[in-house]
Amino acid sequence: MIQVERLWNRLMELSQIGKQPSGGVTRFSFTKVEQRAKQLVASYMEEAGMQVREDAVGNLIGRRDGRRADLPAVLIGSHIDTVPHGGKFDGALGVLAGIEVAQTLNEQQIELDHPIEVIAFTDEEGSRFGLGMIGSRAIAGTLTLEQLQQVDQDGITIWEAMEQSGLDPQNIGEAKREPSTVKAYVELHIEQGRVLEKEGLPAGVVSGIAGPYWTKWNISGEAGHAGATPMDGRKDPLMAATEIMQFMEEQAKKHPATVATVGQISVKPGGVNVIPGEVEFTLDLRAIDEAIRDAVETNIKATAEQVCLKRDVVLNIEHLQRIKPVPCSNSIQEVIREACRKTGVEPITLPSGAGHDGMQFNEWPIGMIFIRSKDGISHNPAEWSSKEDCGKGTKILYETVLALASE
Ligand code: GLV
Ligand code: MN
Ligand code: MN
Repeated sequence: MIQVERLWNRLMELSQIGKQPSGGVTRFSFTKVEQRAKQLVASYMEEAGMQVREDAVGNLIGRRDGRRADLPAVLIGSHIDTVPHGGKFDGALGVLAGIEVAQTLNEQQIELDHPIEVIAFTDEEGSRFGLGMIGSRAIAGTLTLEQLQQVDQDGITIWEAMEQSGLDPQNIGEAKREPSTVKAYVELHIEQGRVLEKEGLPAGVVSGIAGPYWTKWNISGEAGHAGATPMDGRKDPLMAATEIMQFMEEQAKKHPATVATVGQISVKPGGVNVIPGEVEFTLDLRAIDEAIRDAVETNIKATAEQVCLKRDVVLNIEHLQRIKPVPCSNSIQEVIREACRKTGVEPITLPSGAGHDGMQFNEWPIGMIFIRSKDGISHNPAEWSSKEDCGKGTKILYETVLALASE
């Protein structure tokens, strides 16, 4: 059966790679740290008896053949990149649980009809380049050469970063999976919210995933002397930004299942006694309902334009990524519900506020299993799920894969 100790030890071992002295784990895509993490995960895949390869965009893939070579594969995945100072579980759990499922199947000498593939996707988080789900976009065949021009904070493009890690960006098309070769996609992930904890349940079935819309906002005004310039007649972009940010928060609060976050900000030139000349910040806007997200976006942009006109500063909004909210397949939800029952877990259904790689897949059905997060904390060094819940989630994943990969 599933070996919880083995899964847990791997989770803890992986969390040492990219561990930060000031707390948390930082593993950005196409870095030496990520490379080391991939080598470790590849060694686990080999221990699990899988054939291991890396595709054209750096996705790490372990395959276990099925009884029939002509049948499409069941994909199990998640990611091993992290946000800055992230936790040990976000992404890593799903990849290691997939490997545990494959290893258990081998140990039990269970042959499945369909092949299964465990994938550690390249750059799900988007922390480095402002473009998330790079690996899953490539598998879906929607990653464009233009997107590879997005830059990190040092001005390095995705294209250049790929070359630095020995990949040829011209070949991204080779990572695309033909829909006829895939039966379904499933992912186990931590909830990153408080629903399961409140319900007192270790795991649940995901109904759908909220869509993130990311933009970079630049407001330019006029730098000046903080002492000598009277308050009237200033062109202070930071004051315009604060008004706009207040409105973003108000709008998100006013609409159901909608959240707005400014996670990065820089002020130039950045002197104590200098009125800022330029401000740049990001907005991450999400909703479960796309029409609501669109309406909030329109309101925010209209108000921002008025604020900038009033303050005589110039606004420019750059598009980073726009992903539609995505429902999980009803039939896979049903399979996961049954897997929960087999594991002795009452199957409740809940939505995902966080984004996940499965959102990129329109051509085959997707399903997700969540496990309980302590205090709902995530994207934070304190992110935590118990060993027992990780084990239960992995058992549910195992039962789900068993059902999906049998004819
Ligand atoms: C990924 O964790 C995201 O939802 O931003
Ligand atoms: Mn994640
Ligand atoms: Mn995350």
